Amino acid sequence: MNDPQAQQSKLVTTRDGSHTVYSPQFDQHYHNPNGAIAESKHVFFEQSQLLGEIKNSNLVTILEVGFGTGLNLLLLMDYVLDLESNSTIDFFSIEGFPISPQTTENLNYDQHLNHPELANHLPAIFDDLSEGMNEFSLTSNITFHLFNGMFEDFDPDNLRADYIFHDAFSPDVNPELWTGQTFKRLVHFSHDNAILTTYCAASKAQGAMAWAGWKVAKTQGALGKREMIVASQSAEMLADFNRINEEHYARRYKEEDFD
Ligand SMILES: C[S@@+](CC[C@H](N)C(=O)[O-])C[C@H]1O[C@@H](n2cnc3c(N)ncnc32)[C@H](O)[C@@H]1O
Repeated sequence: MNDPQAQQSKLVTTRDGSHTVYSPQFDQHYHNPNGAIAESKHVFFEQSQLLGEIKNSNLVTILEVGFGTGLNLLLLMDYVLDLESNSTIDFFSIEGFPISPQTTENLNYDQHLNHPELANHLPAIFDDLSEGMNEFSLTSNITFHLFNGMFEDFDPDNLRADYIFHDAFSPDVNPELWTGQTFKRLVHFSHDNAILTTYCAASKAQGAMAWAGWKVAKTQGALGKREMIVASQSAEMLADFNRINEEHYARRYKEEDFD
């Protein structure tokens, strides 16, 4: 699925020097203009505690909602090499509107990775996409599964993720990825102990998660943002975080906007 709008995507330099892309379709940047790489590292690797799993060379399955520029995949691979990890990793991601291979060639992520050669994976991935599920053996330990299609149509067999990177555009422009039904489907794709993180802290997003059965906590956001969300179906996994009152948020979500 190659979206003509995506071809017009414009590169923008964020305040940590790393690129992001502006989407005319969603009228939003793919990352925080204050620092694409800084925010991705904080939200998906540090606050989620995924780095500890990689350090210990554990088996990890990750599901990302919104592959976008592929930055999170590159950061993951960079960490694996830095930490000399022997983790076996399955990285699933979903993208409805892939950017063009030419756009990926112009991204400056190579200048921000400790292993710049990893950036060469991106044009190769985007150049060779079929509709539906695509599989790439990136290293002997890392397999990348990219669903080229809409989240609503994603229905893999037996996916039980340990980590969910919820990296949609914001709820005001991309509301379908922030509904209670969406978070219910994410329950279905995860282990009970899975950790879901997102840069967003909107109370409606917290309500949708709580309604869907996630336990929800807030923690320090990236780059001076006050808050972000960490969620899990297991209360134990959130023991170090400040939980919200899920019942209250779920009730309010149901009253205001049942979907
Ligand atoms: C904030 S960007 C993702 C950023 C990305 N993780 C990165 O590091 O570049 C959100 C992505 O979700 C995709 N998207 C939005 N709605 C979607 C849907 N319903 N199904 C599949 N992809 C969707 C957009 O095309 C966009 O690439």
